[in-house]
Amino acid sequence: MDLSGFRENAHEIVNWICDYYETLESRPVKSRALPGSIKQQIPDHPPELGEAFATIWNDFQQIILPGMTHWQHPHFHAYFPANASLPSILGEMATAALGAQCMIWDTSPAAAELEEKLMRWLLEAYGLPSSWEGVIQDTASTATLIAILTAREQVNRWQSNKTGLASSPVFRVYGSTELHSSIDKAIQIAGIGLNNLVRIPVDNQRALVPELLEAAIEQDLESGLTPMCVIIALGSTSTLAIDPLAPVAAICRKYNIWLHVDAAYAGNALILPEYRWMIEGIEGADSFVVNPHKWLFTHFDLSAYFIKDREALLRTFSILPEYLKTETTGLVNDYRDWGIALGRRFRALKLWFVLRTFGMAGLRNVLRDQIRWADWFAEQVDAHPHMEQVTSHAFNMVCLHAIHPEWTLNDMNVYTERWLKRINASGRAYLTHTKVNGIYTIRVVLGQTYLQQHHVQELWSWMVTELADILDPPV
Ligand SMILES: Cc1ncc(COP(=O)(O)O)c(C=O)c1O
Repeated sequence: MDLSGFRENAHEIVNWICDYYETLESRPVKSRALPGSIKQQIPDHPPELGEAFATIWNDFQQIILPGMTHWQHPHFHAYFPANASLPSILGEMATAALGAQCMIWDTSPAAAELEEKLMRWLLEAYGLPSSWEGVIQDTASTATLIAILTAREQVNRWQSNKTGLASSPVFRVYGSTELHSSIDKAIQIAGIGLNNLVRIPVDNQRALVPELLEAAIEQDLESGLTPMCVIIALGSTSTLAIDPLAPVAAICRKYNIWLHVDAAYAGNALILPEYRWMIEGIEGADSFVVNPHKWLFTHFDLSAYFIKDREALLRTFSILPEYLKTETTGLVNDYRDWGIALGRRFRALKLWFVLRTFGMAGLRNVLRDQIRWADWFAEQVDAHPHMEQVTSHAFNMVCLHAIHPEWTLNDMNVYTERWLKRINASGRAYLTHTKVNGIYTIRVVLGQTYLQQHHVQELWSWMVTELADILDPPV
């Protein structure tokens, strides 16, 4: 492909992008592909001779698109969103054009300095302590692994990177029963051992109980174990429960334990002053992760990781082979030292495009609208005789299930699951579930970038109809 061919094809793709967004709502949200149906359409070997772009593009439309779930569809209400936006697409396009590998300042000073500036913008936007610093990671999973490895090095007096863990004390990590599975994975990878992840019970709001955390730490100390890290969630995955930061931070400072805050989704609400109560006591924490790629309209992947003590991070991750030494080493931020991978994409660009296009006021408006619509949705659920909120709703998510005076718990679960499956099979919306105290629970997340109030009303009426059909099947 030469440049003139590229120009033509690129225009076609841009036109397709516009058509795609214009027609998105006519597509089934969740792909209906059956297992194996995509790969059986793809040849077993790469082509020996190059193919025309028109052929490749045709295959994209015929083979790939039907196998895609449309994450940017306004009726994608599943999991948490990975909500992109049009300015973010433009940022990704420019990033792709540059094709830069931004491992160190020298390999693209603009990438390093834009990242540094944007992390300060976000630090301020989220209301985090101004003495902290931030770095972009790919995902919250990686950021949490980084926090755990840093905590491990610090508590082990910077020895385990050199000597391994064979002669280390038994380290203990604490978090509520509601923590995201990425924490379990990080504990496994970091050599802590899953048996040393202590699950602290939650209260009726599904939030960690600080007194039980302290009791567990005391018990471990008495048993000769070494408390290393506490992880709390500001917005748990199942129900968006908020662990109490201030009392947990006080415990962590008392026992000198690293406190990592996982605010992957709901942390974005900190751009709204009315949610700043969540980070009261943040000065007592050590690290914090929030994903603009979940609820700040910036393409996956872009996770913002903030730390109190950059030296602890650098001491854990710095490594300087001869071939990476530059004249600016030590004078600038070489972000390869702030995480796991050496190679780094230029992620900051899309975030820059988003923050500038929306403006902070624009972002606040979108979040507030979505939260308001979730309030409305929750009110409808409360007023419906055969629906019930499983936990009181938070942010822009409502957790609910189907109820009936004659049903057992098992009946409720069976009917709720059937209800969810019917909605998803209709192709009109995509919802996912969790279990709360054994209750099969539908999570309705109202977080898509281009979601409008009429979509929320539409979803509500579909859910009402589908439930009515289950309760009283048409003959
Ligand atoms: C609370 C919480 N933490 C961490 C994660 C993992 O996020 P990521 O996909 O960025 O690793 C999720 C994912 O939904 C989450 O809900």
